[in-house]
Amino acid sequence: MSNPVSVTHSVDADGIGWITFDDPAARANVFNPATQAALRAAVAALAAQPVKAVVVVSAKEKIFIAGADLKWLGRLADAQAAAQASRDGQALFGLLDNFKVPVVCAIHGACAGGGYELALACHWRLASDAKETVIGLPEVGLGLIPGWGGCARLPRLVGAKAAVEHILKAALVPAAEAHQAGLVDELVPAAELKARAKAAALKLAASGRPARPAPAAADATFFAEQRKTAAARMRGQPAPLAVLDTIEKSAGQMLASALETEAAAFGDIAAGEVAKNLVHVFFLKDAVKKITVDAWFPPPAEAAASKPIRTIGVIGAGVMGSGIAQWCAARGYGVIMNDTNVEALKNGVEVVRSLFADAVKRGKMDHAVAHKAMGAVAMSTELIDFEDCDLVIEAVVENVTVKQKLFTELTKVVRPDCILASNTSALPIEEIAAHVANPGRTIGIHFFNPVSRMPLIEMVLSPHTARETADRVLAFAKQLGKSPVICRSAPGFLVTRVLFFYLNAACRLWEQGVPTDVIDRAMRDWGWPMGPMRLIDEVGVDVTDFIYGEMKHYYAGRFEGATVCSRMLAAGLRGRKNGASSGFYAYGGVKEALNPDMAKFAPAATKAMDAKAIQDHLNGVMIDETKRVLAEGVLKTADDADFALLMGAGFPAFRGGLMRYAKAAGLYNG
Ligand code: NAI
Repeated sequence: MSNPVSVTHSVDADGIGWITFDDPAARANVFNPATQAALRAAVAALAAQPVKAVVVVSAKEKIFIAGADLKWLGRLADAQAAAQASRDGQALFGLLDNFKVPVVCAIHGACAGGGYELALACHWRLASDAKETVIGLPEVGLGLIPGWGGCARLPRLVGAKAAVEHILKAALVPAAEAHQAGLVDELVPAAELKARAKAAALKLAASGRPARPAPAAADATFFAEQRKTAAARMRGQPAPLAVLDTIEKSAGQMLASALETEAAAFGDIAAGEVAKNLVHVFFLKDAVKKITVDAWFPPPAEAAASKPIRTIGVIGAGVMGSGIAQWCAARGYGVIMNDTNVEALKNGVEVVRSLFADAVKRGKMDHAVAHKAMGAVAMSTELIDFEDCDLVIEAVVENVTVKQKLFTELTKVVRPDCILASNTSALPIEEIAAHVANPGRTIGIHFFNPVSRMPLIEMVLSPHTARETADRVLAFAKQLGKSPVICRSAPGFLVTRVLFFYLNAACRLWEQGVPTDVIDRAMRDWGWPMGPMRLIDEVGVDVTDFIYGEMKHYYAGRFEGATVCSRMLAAGLRGRKNGASSGFYAYGGVKEALNPDMAKFAPAATKAMDAKAIQDHLNGVMIDETKRVLAEGVLKTADDADFALLMGAGFPAFRGGLMRYAKAAGLYNG
């Protein structure tokens, strides 16, 4: 809870009033009723004094104001309460807009949502050029709309078109970009921010508020196009459409009416299910930052400082090995890549190099940093080179005998405290570690493909994994900037298991005659980024068929494997990964098209099945499997399952999570 002194005020010798945000009880300034009351008091105090102008600043190093307190927002009872919260916030910022003298906002650090709406209510905005200064209105990403004047004021500042584009992007932009887009009026060196803000305040005190010519309004065609794009890209989400409606409707209105239009829309949106789901997902992501292994082990006898991991061996320089090696090197680890096949090793190192080049090209990494990290990647074909490694991650072919042999050989060369990890996507870790003398040091670290873009790691504990190993790997996963979910070792862990039960169920519908595009459209319409047949093409028909085999082996009797993938493989159809080589779709043209060659595998008659029946059936398969996972103790909580499927399988965030959805639909009561 914010403390009442989270906003303070003062007046300097030159008659400039200062309003300073600095919540002593938190790392970030956020808006909740206490902060709002503190701001109201500070404004009232300055209103009673003879000030020439006012500057609003934050004393935090990295965060100006992070926006509204989402916990408080989540507690608002209904649409009426949410609309009233919007009106209250608008009225508070209105005190700045209508203040007796000009108000300047000096932004340093993240200025998000309500933070930027406060800035919008000021008469002049400066931003520091520091890299932590990022600015914008990300509400749509949380299923909300800007409700404290953002929808009403931003179009008046930068025009309706730019305002719509910024709000729908739902991202914080660097200060320079914000300046270029007109979101702030001045970009200044961080060290000069206060002085420059004071200079701006004194200037406005003399000249009055800046005159701002009304920017051009966007025409109806623009809004119609945006509606179409939003409906396609943000399917199932009402917030983008509400932003468009609000901004279009308020274009010709006076500010007061525009604010009321915004408040009414905010009320409906904030009380809606999608906003509640997306805010829930926000908290799931936040909770992962704080996870520990405590739920999985008895308390340690004594707290021991865990040994740091510095040098990592990666075995298998294929798709996953290269991705893992690059990500670890990029995070400052020394990496030795190993492969028995020299050509594969050279190729893997080239992949690492191109991943670094790509990161530089996309502005994610400095050239010098990438160059240095690439220099930390060594090649080897001999396991003996791993003798000084702190951790070895194997990413060789998915074959239990090969992996077992590798782990056994590794124990002969690595240090006794070196952790042995497998990136297997489905094999139980205890099987891989069956011949390891000291299996406490074995664990699964399941990365997802592509490693550089997929945030999830399943951290897999075998019955032998020692607490120290788990602690060290958890710290390592966090250090990598990945989001770990802890699972008990069981075939397929969570994501592979649930996903491939789902893909198999989709293939079985297909084998009964439900057409590819009908299945895919149904699941896309429900919110999945792509349908299951298209996903099989992406993952690879070969990989899918292989994992079906693993599932059939481990879940004998329950996993009734479809045969279409093995028949496709026999005919050379491997999905998208081999370029134009086709799968359920053909990829030769500009856009994928249904692959006519699939006709020969399909049943003679097609089966009619409506979208809802397909969605209920396929979602039901995933829900049932996840229930089993939870009942078997493979995961500790339904939230863990939801988080893993959101991060690792593309589950649509606006649905809030698979088991959250199941619970709301009366399909799960855990
Ligand atoms: P890949 O086939 O691209 O690469 C495997 C590499 O291991 C090859 O370069 C091969 O020469 C090398 N290799 C085989 N035996 C070896 C040995 N004894 N010593 C050293 N090198 C050896 O395979 P990929 O796709 O990278 O998969 C590797 C592992 O990661 C598998 O366990 C797989 O299940 C898992 N995985 C794969 C994902 C994917 O999407 N490809 C996702 C997550 C996990």
